[in-house]
Amino acid sequence: MCGIVGYIGPKDTLPILIEGLKRLEYRGYDSAGIALSINGEILVRKKAGKVADLVADLKKSNELPHAHLGMGHTRWATHGEPNDINAHPHVDCQGEIAVIHNGIIENYLAIKTRLKQRGHVFQSETDTEILAHLIEEIYKTKKDLFAAVRLALREVRGTYGLVVLSSHEPDKLIAARMGSPLILGLGDGEGFVAADAAAIIAHTRQVVYLNDGEVAEVTARGFETKTIYDVSIDKAIEEITFDLSQIERGGYEHFMMKEIHEQPETIRNAMRGRLLVEEGNVRLGGLDHVRDKLLGARRVIIIGCGTSWHAGLVGEYMLEHIAKVPTEVEYASEFRYRSPVITNNDVVFLISQSGETADTLAALREAKAKGATVLGIVNVVGSSIARESQGGVYVHAGPEIGVASTKAFTSQLTTLALITLMIAREKGMKKEEAVVLTRELDAIPGKVSQIFTNVEPIRALAREFRDSKNFLFLGRGANFPVALEGALKLKEISYIHAEGYPAAEMKHGPIALIDEKMPVVFVVPKDSIYEKVISNIQEVRARKGRIIAIANEDDHEINSMADYVIRVPRTYGFFGPILNVIPLQLLAYYMAVERGCNVDQPRNLAKSVTVE
Ligand code: F6R
Repeated sequence: MCGIVGYIGPKDTLPILIEGLKRLEYRGYDSAGIALSINGEILVRKKAGKVADLVADLKKSNELPHAHLGMGHTRWATHGEPNDINAHPHVDCQGEIAVIHNGIIENYLAIKTRLKQRGHVFQSETDTEILAHLIEEIYKTKKDLFAAVRLALREVRGTYGLVVLSSHEPDKLIAARMGSPLILGLGDGEGFVAADAAAIIAHTRQVVYLNDGEVAEVTARGFETKTIYDVSIDKAIEEITFDLSQIERGGYEHFMMKEIHEQPETIRNAMRGRLLVEEGNVRLGGLDHVRDKLLGARRVIIIGCGTSWHAGLVGEYMLEHIAKVPTEVEYASEFRYRSPVITNNDVVFLISQSGETADTLAALREAKAKGATVLGIVNVVGSSIARESQGGVYVHAGPEIGVASTKAFTSQLTTLALITLMIAREKGMKKEEAVVLTRELDAIPGKVSQIFTNVEPIRALAREFRDSKNFLFLGRGANFPVALEGALKLKEISYIHAEGYPAAEMKHGPIALIDEKMPVVFVVPKDSIYEKVISNIQEVRARKGRIIAIANEDDHEINSMADYVIRVPRTYGFFGPILNVIPLQLLAYYMAVERGCNVDQPRNLAKSVTVE
């Protein structure tokens, strides 16, 4: 969601802000703005649209001012439409205090009304603007920006990652966090603030993660951190683990395509040092200390949103079938408001690529408060879910920039397979049986690479179906979630309406949609329920639907039943989803390209959904 970058130091600030904002574009946004501190004044420029539009405006007006203190923001609209006025930064009445903000101030109306009565004049419809005025009001008597921000934040309810600068104190940035991630970056005689490390990795790898309720004063010399209630905090300096090349396109036209092609490597990374192939075992250090809890659990609950939720669904099939662990999967957004019955015999896995999804984080807190053991399956190192979990496993997919999640999904599936095998072995699965599975898992990266050797039929499909209005994706068993994921990928980046269904459910309703124009994608590997899916294919054929089958290489029967066949290598049934989803990612990608859509930044979507 919204992006934040701030800088103080000897370098020219504007290029650092613009570069930082561009690196945050992937998070999703609809307007952009900057504030620079120049000769005792604050210059604010903001614009609806892309960062490039803001830069074009600055260039047009011959305005590329030099400064040594400034901040930039990309806004994903919540309160007020995405226009120039509602874009951040927002300033106080005198234009002396500027604020950028991620999150939502829930009691902004009450504060706005009170401040209006005291004569404050507001320009925008946003909740954020009240922060600038509230700080202004307090600063009049306090004359200390750091203290004024802390006092102001005691009055607000909601979520924020925010940065404040003021012409009164042009040697500092004030940063604060409650529910929206914010990091400080420490350079040589310079300081940074950012919503995520991508914005500043080109300049520094030394970072400090702010926690909820913390406020920092950042100067060129260093930083100081206090809680909003004035308690000083010592913060650890940490090192960013990825490098610049990982957040660049590396010769691909889109991040999504780059990330799809990284999957042999990212799946391998998820297994590296963990999968003991010839021992038929798995080592997961992040779960060692909760081993007894995990093995003694009454049930496992997997919680996530979107694609991560789909991964959880596949995990349910794996855990129940292979490890015989009773498992439930929940949408984070439903779990948190459902008064779930949780005991300390439950183990809850929170799956999240970003580790910052507001609903998933809230579900974690809910489950933890009720006594469950909460464990993360997270990609972003140091993210909120990773830090608040009692243990867990990083999926090690590296930074995922394309808004549509691809490599994180297959790494989540791989990690779930590892967890399943580890539990199964602990519960008595025989080594010989396990070795068959660990070898299968070990072979997956090579099989993913094999899929990439023949993508032309998928590209041809995209050309053929580019004008379709609807798509149906069907699968059964562990491939039902793959159908859901195929539909989600297609709708989010190509804007074609798509539904995923368990193949046998189709006859209970969606079958009414089938006619000679309806493309129906069947995920139909040669597994134990192959024959059942074939029956469902026949039902669609009988109604003249156009059948696209994702099938195994050695499946010759399928040729006479499907109009189009995309081949994937065969593997053990419950690991099949890791392979079967790849052609669906590619199909969505090529469809979006054919239709001229913005693949990496689809409309309305945010990469990291930090509001409810
Ligand atoms: C879809 C997609 C989203 C995310 C969802 C959860 O391509 O990326 O559905 O999966 O917003 O995000 P994380 O995994 O970061 O919690």
